[in-house]
Amino acid sequence: MKQIVTAAALSVAVALSSGAQTGERKIIRIATDNTDLVLEVSPDNRLYQTYLGPGLRHESDLRNLSWSQHAGSDGSVSKRGWEVYSTSGNEDFFEPALGITHADGNMTTYLYYVDSTQEAVPGGIHTRINLRDDKYPVNVTVNYIAYTKENVIKTWTEITHHERHPVLMSQYASAMLYFNEPEYWLTEFSSDWAKEAGMSTQRLQFGKKVLDTKLGSRAAMHTHPFFEIGLNGPVREHSGEVLMGTLGWTGNFRFTFEVDNVGNLRVISGINPYASTYELKADEVFVTPEFIFTLSSGGTSQGSRDLHDWMRKYGLKDGEGPRLTLLNNWENTAFDFDQDILAQLMKEARHLGVDMFLLDDGWFGNKYPRKDDHAGLGDWEATRHKLPGGIPALVDAAKEADVKFGIWIEPEMVNPQSELYEKHSDWVIEQPNRDTYYYRNQLVLDLSNPKVQDHVFGVVDRILSENPDVAYFKWDCNSPITNIYSPYAGSRQGQLYVDHVRGIYNVLGRIKDKYPDVPMMLCSGGGARCDYEALKYFTEFWCSDNTDPIERIYIQWGFSQFFPAKAMAAHVTSWNKNTSVKFRTDVAAMCKLGFDIGLQDLTSEELLYCQQAVANWKRLQPVVMDGDQYRLVSPYETNHAAVEYVDKSKTMAVLFAYDLAPRFQEKLSKVKLQGLDPDKKYIVEEINLMNGQESRLPQNNKVYTGDYLMKVGLDVFSYHHNQSVVLELRAI
Ligand code: DGJ
Repeated sequence: MKQIVTAAALSVAVALSSGAQTGERKIIRIATDNTDLVLEVSPDNRLYQTYLGPGLRHESDLRNLSWSQHAGSDGSVSKRGWEVYSTSGNEDFFEPALGITHADGNMTTYLYYVDSTQEAVPGGIHTRINLRDDKYPVNVTVNYIAYTKENVIKTWTEITHHERHPVLMSQYASAMLYFNEPEYWLTEFSSDWAKEAGMSTQRLQFGKKVLDTKLGSRAAMHTHPFFEIGLNGPVREHSGEVLMGTLGWTGNFRFTFEVDNVGNLRVISGINPYASTYELKADEVFVTPEFIFTLSSGGTSQGSRDLHDWMRKYGLKDGEGPRLTLLNNWENTAFDFDQDILAQLMKEARHLGVDMFLLDDGWFGNKYPRKDDHAGLGDWEATRHKLPGGIPALVDAAKEADVKFGIWIEPEMVNPQSELYEKHSDWVIEQPNRDTYYYRNQLVLDLSNPKVQDHVFGVVDRILSENPDVAYFKWDCNSPITNIYSPYAGSRQGQLYVDHVRGIYNVLGRIKDKYPDVPMMLCSGGGARCDYEALKYFTEFWCSDNTDPIERIYIQWGFSQFFPAKAMAAHVTSWNKNTSVKFRTDVAAMCKLGFDIGLQDLTSEELLYCQQAVANWKRLQPVVMDGDQYRLVSPYETNHAAVEYVDKSKTMAVLFAYDLAPRFQEKLSKVKLQGLDPDKKYIVEEINLMNGQESRLPQNNKVYTGDYLMKVGLDVFSYHHNQSVVLELRAI
């Protein structure tokens, strides 16, 4: 694809390359508007990081940085620096990025600088640095793209060699970053089914902390592929320096945080090499996944907004396009439906005012009908006795109801009770000589096998070519890889975890090429797949099966650290009926709104409320989906929560405020808004009120300046439990 280089971006590139050569020293500056990552080639031609921090004002200061991080007080300079892509066997005794056993058995690698280039690409500058071992024909190219305006840097490497025989790679990280600060505080995102994105913080001290997964396909079920590091204390929302990093890899990942003997922190991010010693053939290029990070001086709030902007622009599929509201049937009917019931639900979707009806699991399988989760997975033919007219009849029914039609698939998986398994048991990841163990009664197809890739692509391709009006897919993935063994891989079992993920990308890439405009939801029994690479192929992901709105406030708070609201699907369901339909809807309306509830379960007042909330959400979609998000009041720190969205022109804002479980007569603080224009006047209106209900807020329908709203704030909290308020602010 031809890349368009803007004049502005080009002039930056020229300035950088001319400034990179300062005297005899080779200094490489990777810069956004707010961050500098500075590298330097040492006199013996090794490449070191000399700085990563807030942007330096004066180019001349780059010369004051030193590649050696270990100058003694007596002026002696140790050889040890922060090597950009540290290798096993070198003089650094801490965790390396790359570990190679060469064809002759030698386990050491030394990388020396060869040359580098910088060129303008859309949104930023691409720096490529070529490194080479002087004794073995091994080449590594380290890549960085610095996105100037969004303050995001994306980095990855390419590893290749020309040895006579394959080499074995035991480590092959995407990136290594170093810090020297008094304290390091890690915020991690632990997870499990229905309890995704749980945030917890700990101080990093000498030694290693590793966050990794070995689950293979449902890879992020126990921990998500992103983290935050507070660089001068625990991360804070609105202040402080924080590194926010994420790996784009839909498989096993590993982050290693190591504090060394002198108190430096190194952060190594990449594929988890667990059970994955990779045999790299001569001339094969191993491209590591992208590590994407931002360094914020304004706390996680600013960091998240930068990542949201970046993702909408450069990451997420159709990141700048609109999203479809929907009615799903999983929580409502589970497997228990037929054509008439679905046709009725489509009419309900229309009545509710949403754009689409989404048919979930249970529509396929004939020899082994999918009546529960024990059978049928893999046989993507509509079950005749349930759906005699097949998908075409459902598409027609949706047309008649005047809604779009979307459908659930889980094409990477198979139930042993299926025709697919009977025909192609060799397409399945399964041990030939041990007992099989199952997760949700299913097994994972071997996506390292090109025939299986064709089959999985064919599932989508066939549905869409036979039914071009299918408007949406929910792509599920409910099992980790169990019984790791590929009948296809032969003796190259060590590559299976990696090749399997590559196979998924091959399929997803083909789908995106052929059907670029079909939106798709990424689902993995909830949010167990939530990485930036997968989301190049999906318009949104399903954050969690847990739709209890109280739990969802925490889950969405966690995911919002790295994902724009537009990427996060949230549905109104019957989970936690102790909360009102209004409360449940207001929580879901902070993300991409959907419903998964039978309308017959709603009173006429509740239904009317939902219809109005859908209409409001559609009207405010540009603010919530494309605006700036401010997490104002944390549910982790208070008994309340508040999140605000402001459109880019600062003329519209929406505030969502929740009372969770306030204590008796506790102190209620005003909510100070952020991101408004201080000189604009805004009318404040409470929306999403139950039919006929008056706003209890004294500020309702009053006018305030942005300055007042940001400095004085609004009284929105109360002593009630599980109560929500939604305010719309319009500049007048
Ligand atoms: C797990 C998903 O998270 C649910 O939303 C639903 O689609 C089920 N799978 C269906 O089996």
